[in-house]
Amino acid sequence: MPGMEVYGAEERKEVMDVLETGALFRYGHENIRKGMWKALEFEAEVCKQTGAKHAHAVTSGTTAVTSIMAAAGIGHGDEVIVPPYTFVAPVEAAFLAGALPVFAEIDESLCLSPEGIEAAVTPNTKAVLLIHMCGAAADLEGILAVCKKHNLVLLEDCGQAMGASYKGKSVGLHGVAGAFSFDYFKITTCGEGGMTITNDEAIYKNIDQVSDHGHTHEGNNRGMEDHYIMGSNFRIGEINAAIGLAQMRKLPWILEQNRKHKKYIKVRLKQIDGLTFRKLGDEEGDSATFINFFLPTKQHAEKLFAQLSEDGVGGVANWYTNMYHFINQWDHIKEVKFPSKLAIHNLDAPQDYSSIYLPKSEDIISRLACIGISCTWKENELAAYTDKIVAAIKKVL
Ligand SMILES: Cc1ncc(COP(=O)(O)O)c(C=O)c1O
Repeated sequence: MPGMEVYGAEERKEVMDVLETGALFRYGHENIRKGMWKALEFEAEVCKQTGAKHAHAVTSGTTAVTSIMAAAGIGHGDEVIVPPYTFVAPVEAAFLAGALPVFAEIDESLCLSPEGIEAAVTPNTKAVLLIHMCGAAADLEGILAVCKKHNLVLLEDCGQAMGASYKGKSVGLHGVAGAFSFDYFKITTCGEGGMTITNDEAIYKNIDQVSDHGHTHEGNNRGMEDHYIMGSNFRIGEINAAIGLAQMRKLPWILEQNRKHKKYIKVRLKQIDGLTFRKLGDEEGDSATFINFFLPTKQHAEKLFAQLSEDGVGGVANWYTNMYHFINQWDHIKEVKFPSKLAIHNLDAPQDYSSIYLPKSEDIISRLACIGISCTWKENELAAYTDKIVAAIKKVL
């Protein structure tokens, strides 16, 4: 995974700046911080690279999703369309916000499809929580048209897609707001951290306040600030922000390497009859963190994963059976299990989660193989790794 691969002297330098002053908190303490504001710099760097007017850092991708949902007014009893293929965080965030998730079909883009969303819309639908999976954007053109038609709020979870864009605009800026994760497994990481972006000032102010107990961050006396709304504590600390800043500066290089490596593998895989590839609405904007391809059938995919394991080849994810990324592994979510009562326990669930079946998504994920791209591969390593994958595929087709 790129971010952790490139951790080094630059991150240590930024952290040392913070450790030397001891200003670990992102607000105030001007007397000791020697002009260093790592969270602010981190946010400015994200604005610079995404083109966002506003960015606000938080503690995780999960709290980033929570913040943008609250900021956009999505909460108690609101139906929110979500995909069945994602890391579970945004779905959990929707439940915990009191919203009612409605699962809709994805397509070969690996994200919610315009048709899937259209079919799931009801008079109670308020928002689409779009998740740009595996480093690349969904079919935003089609999705924006459906959102416009039904007057739905579009929220983008770009947890896996830092650096990705669609037709020249960064993911996260196509709807009301976007959320990114900087956890340890992401394209840019600070161990644990998250980022929100938006071009809407009112939404930004909401995020800023929701993520810090309603503090307005106006003036220079934190203790005497006004509070117009409630919030919580999703504040990022200066140490995490310092690492995030160093990592963001490395993003252009990471993207360049990823794209070069992905292109090499894709050219090789394209020579094999029977494989098809993830649909990319904007290939140029792909962060190239993964290369996703489909086997002709579920049985072929099962054989490929068995073959890779027999050959000792790692790094190819089988999302159909592993890692809690597909709804068939989410019994606890389908039973809405949580230690305390959630809004959904007192409201009518919009779907019978326990019997939910999305045949198109099921077919797509059961045939999917996903290779993680390393930005630090040497040419010979990349060639040798690709040889092994090609050989395994040829054995099973
Ligand atoms: C799409 C997506 N959204 C949200 C998250 C949650 O991010 P975090 O682990 O930083 O809370 C993840 C993490 O894997 C993710 O993949």
